[in-house]
Amino acid sequence: MILHAHELDPQVPNPARMYDYFLGGYHNFEADRQAAEAAEAAFPGVRAAARANRDFLRRAVRFLAERGIGQFLDLGSGVPTAGNVHEIAQKADPGARVVYVDAEPVAVHASESLLAGAPGADILHADIRHVEAVLSAPQVASLLDLDRPLGLIMAAVLPYIPDADDPARLVRRYCAALSPGSYVVISHASFDDFEQAETDRVYDVYKATTSMFTSRRHERIAGWFDGLDLVDPGVVTVTEWRPEPGDTPVRLRLPHYGGVARIP
Ligand SMILES: C[S@@+](CC[C@H](N)C(=O)[O-])C[C@H]1O[C@@H](n2cnc3c(N)ncnc32)[C@H](O)[C@@H]1O
Repeated sequence: MILHAHELDPQVPNPARMYDYFLGGYHNFEADRQAAEAAEAAFPGVRAAARANRDFLRRAVRFLAERGIGQFLDLGSGVPTAGNVHEIAQKADPGARVVYVDAEPVAVHASESLLAGAPGADILHADIRHVEAVLSAPQVASLLDLDRPLGLIMAAVLPYIPDADDPARLVRRYCAALSPGSYVVISHASFDDFEQAETDRVYDVYKATTSMFTSRRHERIAGWFDGLDLVDPGVVTVTEWRPEPGDTPVRLRLPHYGGVARIP
């Protein structure tokens, strides 16, 4: 089932495939590679932030799995790469179940190939702004039980939800559908503390892609956790969130904030 997903055009760079390129993947086209290199040249540190975000995601999923969370809804899951959510979750609990959701056809196709024959995990091709449609999709109905605690993941996806589509409301709508004891994981890059001259060129790169990037300040991202029980150390740069030996050693130039909270 496809719910208002993005069109595939290899000539137009796409942030999902640019991110795959930053992570060293091969599900990307020449236009994506050029745009990714242009973004890195315009603002050195974008690539490192992508890698650090992926490390944060792995740690956050492990953290939830260790607290007994055995089902996950990964919104804007991206092109599969090393350490996918179901691999991490099923290491802790072989019965863990995961539904991935993405709007980008290459990400969905790669996920379908990876997940063929993988028990307990599936991919939904959909735009996450269609909350009711996502939550009532057959993949969700067959794998997830919304009446039991679940891990909701929104890692590096909300920058692609413009203010006009109200990301705060989107977070609230998904959280409202979950049972108490569920967790939400959010990460989001922030260019706001830099001079406009420094960031204009990177915005120009993203303007030419399928999805514009919206930067948000720390306090705005932290506000999305209001009313939830924020896990220590709160909303911090992803490298500061419960770091572990073996993570990509980076000093983030581009602040990429991450946080995890429990739904009371
Ligand atoms: C930067 S990648 C992050 C991938 C993964 N969550 C991670 O943190 O490693 C952002 C992903 O969000 C997806 N995305 C952006 N807007 C979306 C939307 N409205 N609905 C579904 N997916 C979306 C993109 O296609 C892309 O795969």
